[in-house]
Amino acid sequence: MSLEKKVVWITGASSGIGEALAYEFNKKGTLLILSARREEELVRVQSECENWEETVKVLPLDLENTESLQKKADEAIKLFGGIDMLINNGGISQRAYAVESKMDTIRKVMEVNFFGTVALTKAVLPHMIEQKSGHIVVISSVMGKLGTKYRSVYAASKHALHGWFDCLRQEVYEHQIDVSLVCPGFVKTNVTVNALTADGEKHNQMDDAQQKAMKPEEFAKRLLPKLANRKEEIIIGGTEILAVYLKRISPSLVNRILRKIKVT
Ligand SMILES: NC(=O)c1ccc[n+]([C@@H]2O[C@H](COP(=O)([O-])OP(=O)(O)OC[C@H]3O[C@@H](n4cnc5c(N)ncnc54)[C@H](OP(=O)(O)O)[C@@H]3O)[C@@H](O)[C@H]2O)c1
Repeated sequence: MSLEKKVVWITGASSGIGEALAYEFNKKGTLLILSARREEELVRVQSECENWEETVKVLPLDLENTESLQKKADEAIKLFGGIDMLINNGGISQRAYAVESKMDTIRKVMEVNFFGTVALTKAVLPHMIEQKSGHIVVISSVMGKLGTKYRSVYAASKHALHGWFDCLRQEVYEHQIDVSLVCPGFVKTNVTVNALTADGEKHNQMDDAQQKAMKPEEFAKRLLPKLANRKEEIIIGGTEILAVYLKRISPSLVNRILRKIKVT
């Protein structure tokens, strides 16, 4: 499918993977709506895009404020007269032991990663059903398939996305709407810097694994053709993604390996 002149709405577009996706789609002549909380960062990304005055709009939103998202979706639809693809990418991670994590922190991660994503998708779906086409993309994680230390609620939020969107895919098939779940391995972004500690503070450290990981630009380049082909499940990363495939054959072996290796 050609991405030229399609309208793509990206959340979490103010940094990392979302920012890199914005530039990659911009190169393909896509019409873009960029969302996240920090408007000044969205404007920075917008101004880095070619021909941005006509092709890139900024729409700040907070995924934690689920009540506000229907109004945001209505505004987004008006910007270019429709939405062809919604990329649910905005999210936060966690670096804390499960036993120490406060319930408020656990709820916050679920609120942003799961409830925010679900609420935004629900707000856009009636429009896609009416136009009889659409593509919902979810940036999950290999942590949507596995479990390691320090990421209990992050993994829970990503696993929950798989359940919800796998069911949604079956329901919207008859409306010509596709659902793609994307599982990145390690990508070099500020995701661990922005991750929440047990108390809900910023972790403020980049993990070694992130430091050495694939650049977001490479990730975006590899992802776009797969989205254009509307693949249902997409796994992109380094050797860490082998654990996802191995788990299908021997979950207990993968659990033993993940217990021993460094996961930060
Ligand atoms: N990097 C990796 O290794 C990796 C691996 C697997 C999956 N992922 C997933 O990839 C996605 C993007 O993360 P990233 O790696 O690019 O990290 P990042 O640079 O920290 O980006 C996170 C993005 O989410 C936005 N965001 C956070 N809280 C939000 C909220 N309440 N409302 C709206 N937007 C919010 C942030 O923007 P504002 O702060 O401006 O709101 C930012 O644009 C996340 O869903 C993450 O779980 C990343």
